Amino acid sequence: MSYENRWQTVKVAVENQIAWVSFNRPDKRNAMSPTLNREMGDVLEVLEQDADVGVVVITGEGSAWTAGMDLKEYFRETDGLPEIAQEKARREACKWQWQMLRFYNKPTIAMVNGWCFGGAFSPLVACDLAIAADEAVFGLSEINWGIPPGNLVSKAMADTVGHRQSLYYIMTGETFNGKQAAEMGLVNKSVPLAELRAEVEKLCQTLLEKNPVVLRYAKNGFKRCRELTWDQNEDYLYAKLDQCLFRDPEGGRAEGMRQFLDEKSIKPGLQTYKR
Ligand code: COA
Repeated sequence: MSYENRWQTVKVAVENQIAWVSFNRPDKRNAMSPTLNREMGDVLEVLEQDADVGVVVITGEGSAWTAGMDLKEYFRETDGLPEIAQEKARREACKWQWQMLRFYNKPTIAMVNGWCFGGAFSPLVACDLAIAADEAVFGLSEINWGIPPGNLVSKAMADTVGHRQSLYYIMTGETFNGKQAAEMGLVNKSVPLAELRAEVEKLCQTLLEKNPVVLRYAKNGFKRCRELTWDQNEDYLYAKLDQCLFRDPEGGRAEGMRQFLDEKSIKPGLQTYKR
């Protein structure tokens, strides 16, 4: 399906099962306005149901991934609105930036091509994986313009980056680059900007080879288990494992064992079973 020109602030192109989703306000450094937030919610809903999409990559047009929440349209222009209208704008931001993305039913990759500030950290961390350009510039800049980190940015930092590093960047507003983001575990890796798309495409191919149902249970199980105790996890993760077996139309577990134990055609330690 073609999504050309379907959204005003987001560009979507699906090629070979990869949905390339680009924030499309390059003149405003892809700042997340209420319109962009609303449209991203719609984009994610639509792509989740699109059988031609196996993995979703989120990137930005121009020099920015996203320069964070739109200071004009999201903050200043909603300041005077009734509280209920402000709540709506907030809900639409949270909806896609972490509620949908955290437990999205397809793998998601943040491809950080440039500026990445403030509110950007919520969707960045909510994506399953993240690859940045070495040249990308990250910053928790809220402190520089008069607020503590907004949305779920602090939680995103606490979940991915260490205590000292988080507080350092939250309190100083100092920027860091893609390489540093990789060193601190905020992104999986960083590569030169010129190689970014190819690197992400390679990762997409790896994910596309996997059984999509198992992939979904594996990633969502991991994310949920961080918030549960060991006892709760025993119950939850075993229940998820059973649910996965029940729902997997490929019967991946039996097939994987057959290829390894009977056919001796794969080494599951080194490669995925043939689907
Ligand atoms: N909200 C609203 N507008 C933004 C924006 C944001 N977060 N970030 C950039 N823009 C707009 C600018 O106002 C400017 O608009 P204009 O052309 O109408 O004047 C346009 O995008 C270009 O920005 P500019 O600052 O000229 O680009 P730059 O390439 O020189 O600098 C940044 C890029 C990202 C360093 C700089 O724009 C910036 O500091 N943005 C704010 C980042 C931030 O603190 N985000 C946290 C929000 S939670």
